[in-house]
Amino acid sequence: MTLQYASKPEMPEGLAVRIEELSLRYKINVESKMTLKNAIMRAGRGEKRRVRTIEAVKNLSLDIPHGTVMGVVGANGAGKSTLMRAIAGILPPTEGRIIVNGKVSTLLALGVGFNGTLSGRDNIILGGLAAGLEREELEARFDDIASFADLPNGFIDMPMRTYSAGMYGRLAFSVAVNMTPDILLIDEALSTGDAAFKEKSFEKMRQLCLEARTIIIVSHALGTLNELCNKALWMHQGNALAFGNATKVTDQYLEFLNVGKVPSALEDF
Ligand SMILES: Nc1ncnc2c1ncn2[C@@H]1O[C@H](COP(=O)(O)OP(=O)(O)OP(=O)(O)O)[C@@H](O)[C@H]1O
Ligand SMILES: [Mg+2]
Repeated sequence: MTLQYASKPEMPEGLAVRIEELSLRYKINVESKMTLKNAIMRAGRGEKRRVRTIEAVKNLSLDIPHGTVMGVVGANGAGKSTLMRAIAGILPPTEGRIIVNGKVSTLLALGVGFNGTLSGRDNIILGGLAAGLEREELEARFDDIASFADLPNGFIDMPMRTYSAGMYGRLAFSVAVNMTPDILLIDEALSTGDAAFKEKSFEKMRQLCLEARTIIIVSHALGTLNELCNKALWMHQGNALAFGNATKVTDQYLEFLNVGKVPSALEDF
């Protein structure tokens, strides 16, 4: 999915993303089933709907200058994907705000953005139009996207629900990186392809990093993050525990995990 934001006048020069006192909460209905019977029984007992609130991101403030390549690390459930969804504009802040300056291209959890009943070709065209590309520009870029994804013979014209997870991931990655975004958000996406595609996508990422774009990558592959990123953010139970030099932050995270700097922990996917 690609979103276009207008540049905001209150944004200081040189900043790609400004996060101000951001909190993101989910409200979950704890009731197993919301049936009419349940509702009546509850009303009869004078009970309120049982709702559980999850604080996925707690009061986070962060400035991300243009050209930053930032890794986001943290345990499962730490709030990384939630934060990415908010930066992408998919999830509105519960409190605080996020100002984004530039064209954003996102590669979030797989499954977001593509329509499974449409072919890869149609999804690329839809994605491109949503990203604000002109028809001719899109046609020119289509070949790049398709050849980078390098799907098995004929699959570009098959409905995407027939794709394997890896094929889906290849196309998603190819679309996201070929939209020439100012800000690229990637959540766990370097892991989908096979070894050859992983190598190719890593090369592409390195190239994008050199082009001084702003990139935010969520990944559990600390080795990859260290190679690509100059900054890292460590999230823990919704809090930002550390932000700074990528190697330093990932080292702190590793220490916390009590793993130490053993090679297996720093290994890529
Ligand atoms: N759609 C949702 N509805 C309700 N709660 C959610 C939703 N998505 C995430 N959460 C909760 O918010 C918290 C943060 O989840 P999030 O997906 O952001 O974590 P994460 O750091 O990306 O984890 P992982 O490493 O497993 O991907 C978790 O407690 C999770 O259960
Ligand atoms: Mg996640």
